[in-house]
Amino acid sequence: MKIQIIYCHPSEKSYTYEILEQLKSSLEKEHLEFEISDLYEMNFITDMNEDEYEREGFAKIELPIPNDVKEEHQKINKADCIIFVYPVWWSDCPAKLKGWFDRVYSVGYAYGNEESKPEAKMKTIKYGLVICTAGHPNQFLEEIGIAESMKNVMINDRLGKRFNKKEMIILGGTLDKEKVIQDHSEIIKSIGKKIKEYCI
Ligand SMILES: Cc1cc2nc3c(=O)[nH]c(=O)nc-3n(C[C@H](O)[C@H](O)[C@H](O)COP(=O)(O)O)c2cc1C
Repeated sequence: MKIQIIYCHPSEKSYTYEILEQLKSSLEKEHLEFEISDLYEMNFITDMNEDEYEREGFAKIELPIPNDVKEEHQKINKADCIIFVYPVWWSDCPAKLKGWFDRVYSVGYAYGNEESKPEAKMKTIKYGLVICTAGHPNQFLEEIGIAESMKNVMINDRLGKRFNKKEMIILGGTLDKEKVIQDHSEIIKSIGKKIKEYCI
C-alpha cells in the first residue's frame, strides 16, 4: 500500500505547507507509506517544449518520453492512492501543477492508450484525493459556481476514469484563517483512516 503525494506550493511559510505537514502526521499515525513529489523543490519542468509537443499534439506514441516524465510515471505505477495538495490560484491549481498534468499525462499513457502495451498504460489508481486551500470561504465558492467548476475539472477530467474512487476537499476561508483552522485540521486528521478504509 503506497501513497504518492503531488505537492505544489513554492513556500514553506505557507498555510498549504502546514496542511501538508498535518497530512503527513495523519498518514504516519496510521503507518501508511508515502512519497512526496514536491514540484517546486524538484524544479519540475512544466512547460511543454516543441519536441514534446510533436509527440503529444500529433499522438506520435513511438517518440520518446522525457526521463523526468518517466520518473513520474514510475511513481504513479507504484501508487495505490494519489493525493494532490495545492493552493487555489485563479480558480484552479497553480500553473506548475497544471504543467505536471500537461507533461505527465502523456498520450499513450494516461489517454489515447488503446493501442499501447499494458506496461505503457497508466494503471487505475484505487483512490484519488484532491486537497486545495482557498482564500474564499467554501460557501462563497459554491454560490459563484467556482467550487463546482474546480471539482468538474479536477475530478471528472484530470482524475477521470484513471481513479476508482475520487474526492476533492476544498479547505476554504484562509483569508480569515482563525475561523477555519480547527475545522481544516479535523478534516486532515481523518484522512489516514479513510485511506486505510478505501485502499487496504
Ligand atoms: C496568485 C494567487 C491567486 C489566488 N487566487 C485565488 C482564487 O482564485 N480563489 C481563492 O479562493 N483564493 C485565491 N488565492 C488565495 C489562496 O488560495 C490562499 O492564499 C491559499 O489558499 C492559502 O495560502 P497559502 O499561500 O499560505 O498556502 C490566491 C492566492 C494567490 C497567491
